[in-house]
Amino acid sequence: MTHNPILITGGAGFIGSHLTDALLAKGYAVRVLDDLSTGKRSNLPLDNAKIELIEGDVADAQVVAQAMSGCQAVVHLAAVASVQASVDDPVRTHQSNFIGTLNVCEAMRQASVKRVVFASSAAVYGNNGEGHPIDEETPKAPLTPYASDKLASEYYLDFYRREHALEPVIFRFFNIFGPRQDPSSPYSGVISIFSERAQKGLPITVFGDGEQTRDFVYVEDLVKVLVQAVETPQVKPGAINVGMNKATSLNQMLEALAEVLGQIPPVSYSEARSGDIRHSRANNQRLVERFTMPEQTLMKVGLDRLLKNLSVK
Ligand code: NAD
Ligand code: UD1
Repeated sequence: MTHNPILITGGAGFIGSHLTDALLAKGYAVRVLDDLSTGKRSNLPLDNAKIELIEGDVADAQVVAQAMSGCQAVVHLAAVASVQASVDDPVRTHQSNFIGTLNVCEAMRQASVKRVVFASSAAVYGNNGEGHPIDEETPKAPLTPYASDKLASEYYLDFYRREHALEPVIFRFFNIFGPRQDPSSPYSGVISIFSERAQKGLPITVFGDGEQTRDFVYVEDLVKVLVQAVETPQVKPGAINVGMNKATSLNQMLEALAEVLGQIPPVSYSEARSGDIRHSRANNQRLVERFTMPEQTLMKVGLDRLLKNLSVK
């Protein structure tokens, strides 16, 4: 291990801050580049001498180049994570979600940094899964600017792999949940919104009939895979699904929440979101072959930890 830092773009956010903790615990130095649009300083242990926070925008090539200087590897997480936000404001999200990736690739080429771990998304498959486990070769069908930017980012990373010997590890995350996922906006992840509202006794709104399914992954399980991707000596081409091969409907998730909390407030159902995916479930064979999978944290265990974290805030 060299003393050079690992750059985490979006490191002050939900996933990025858990990854920061894990890398610091392993003795790495971490440099975070984050514009704090949804991330928070308070997510980071800034009193640790091994962490540095650069407040800046990945859409600014100069800032990215400065942040890249002297790093040994990059985990590129900075993006507008909300699919719905990309539908409402495609221009702004494109700056972060695509131009940001291109800037990371260019800065890596210039600084001769090879390894990049990238957060792509199950959203690239659109509705092609039709309820079956989706493997990586399933035709892509991006339904939203968010999904289009993620898929374009994957193609650019592969271009830089072929032309400039970058070593991209491209993960297609399914739905990640856990403590620190910010529940404060309508654009937030569904589990964080429902958990906070349930804990406060506020009514819950499901968009659609609640029978849409997602493959939920607890954040600490994902982080164990991300750390391996930073460290693995060899990278094979091709994107990798990060899911548990388990479909949970929103209605089932609400039942689990009710079991953990004892009861939940009234639930109402309204119109489904435009561009919303109906069913999403990962075939995770490639992930299992290439990485050591942690034992899955069960939904109720994850919900319990998330709720405890909310209640101390
Ligand atoms: P998050 O919103 O908590 O984290 C994103 C971070 O990026 C935040 O700290 C935000 O301030 C920062 N950021 C946004 N735009 C930026 C910009 N232009 N410049 C610098 N920083 C910027 O969301 P998250 O759930 O932790 O998502 C992390 C990554 O994982 C994103 O790329 C997201 O698309 C991807 N992803 C998330 C999920 C999920 O279920 N949470 C699933 C698939 C993919
Ligand atoms: C999520 C991630 C996205 C990721 C994708 C991968 C967030 C904010 N989004 O998108 O980054 O690429 O998984 O699969 O982390 N819903 C409600 N009520 C609410 C909020 C949401 O019913 O108050 C519904 C939505 O309509 C949707 C489901 O819950 O059907 C999940 O929504 P959301 O958590 O926003 O996630 P995805 O759109 O799946």
